Amino acid sequence: MITPKVLVFAGSLRTASFNKKLARIAATAAADAGAEVTMIDLRDYPLPLYDGDIEAGEGLPVNALRLKEFFIGSQGVIIACPEYNAGITAVLKNTIDWISRPHGGSTGRVPFEGKVVGLCGATPGLMAAIRSMDMTRHVLMQLGCLVLANRIGIPRAGDAFDESGALKDPKQTAAVNALAAEVVRVAARLAG
Ligand SMILES: Cc1cc2nc3c(=O)[nH]c(=O)nc-3n(C[C@H](O)[C@H](O)[C@H](O)COP(=O)(O)O)c2cc1C
Repeated sequence: MITPKVLVFAGSLRTASFNKKLARIAATAAADAGAEVTMIDLRDYPLPLYDGDIEAGEGLPVNALRLKEFFIGSQGVIIACPEYNAGITAVLKNTIDWISRPHGGSTGRVPFEGKVVGLCGATPGLMAAIRSMDMTRHVLMQLGCLVLANRIGIPRAGDAFDESGALKDPKQTAAVNALAAEVVRVAARLAG
């Protein structure tokens, strides 16, 4: 069987992000499940806010092209979604918006179409990023992704991780591992 490629990242920029911790756990689980994992930090790929004048004048920023390539080269994607004001973070939406622009004769759906996506999210509050994950699901499904129905929310994130960055609750760890394994399982079918 062909080894599936899975891209993992968090929709947060900050260094101490709970969602970066969660993304690291999911990345390890995806690798353990047999995927070739690429984990990226959106801080390494800064983008201007989407502006049609920039696109018309200069084309897509080089980081948008790099991020497009990460998506194009993957059969599966795992995103750890922080929640801002009951929704998707600006950095995650802006990243998706830039990647979804047509380029080089291919439509903006090409990086997304037929990719399996697993969503997880962590917040200090009790809502566990559910609204952010659901908004992200809506956006990605419009672009043709196959977003898994199951999504894993971690509430009270301030207490959820130990000093090494692992989740303290074995049930939460098992849930993230299962999500990652399901992404890898479906991605392997897509790769094969
Ligand atoms: C502008 C803003 C709005 C926020 N709104 C919510 C919210 O609606 N629900 C929630 O659970 N947390 C909310 N938070 C708290 C974030 O969940 C928290 O800052 C979290 O640590 C962000 O994720 P990160 O740790 O991965 O950066 C908000 C934070 C900011 C800065």
